[in-house]
Amino acid sequence: MRTTIALLTSLLAAGPSLAQAPAVPAAPAPTVAPIAPTPPPTPAFAPSNLTPTGVRSMSATCSSCHGTNGVSAGGAIAGLAGLNRDYFIIQMKSFKEGKREATLMHQIAKGYTDAEIAAMADYFAAQKR
Ligand code: HEC
Repeated sequence: MRTTIALLTSLLAAGPSLAQAPAVPAAPAPTVAPIAPTPPPTPAFAPSNLTPTGVRSMSATCSSCHGTNGVSAGGAIAGLAGLNRDYFIIQMKSFKEGKREATLMHQIAKGYTDAEIAAMADYFAAQKR
């Protein structure tokens, strides 16, 4: 009898530690934002190259080699000022498609859309040599 009481007392003293631990709910798996399948749209503040200012800016990037406004300062690299529009477009497309051999222009031409090339063709055709 004594032994039984002692056992019961010790079981009661153990108290909650003997109680079955409540099941801990599994933490929800962290959600990872899916990687955008398409690149984000062009920001609204990106200016278009197809405005008068845009065409001037695009064409200005050519000036370091072809001269200010396409007027060559002489030397190895041809001027672009007064160049025939259709000739300009054909050359740019040939560079772009690798049909005209080039040291640099095949890389540069790839950076422009057909519309941008046409806009620069108009711009340079209108410049005085
Ligand atoms: C880093 C120097 C450099 C820059 C910048 C440059 N070009 Fe050229 N360009 C050349 C060279 C060099 C050639 C001769 C072909 C070659 O070797 O790539 C050439 C040739 C050309 C030709 C052929 C000319 C002809 O009489 O047949 C056109 C058209 C032309 N470039 C347009 C452009 C335009 C448009 C830009 C600006 C968007 C530009 N280039 C920027 C160096 C440059």
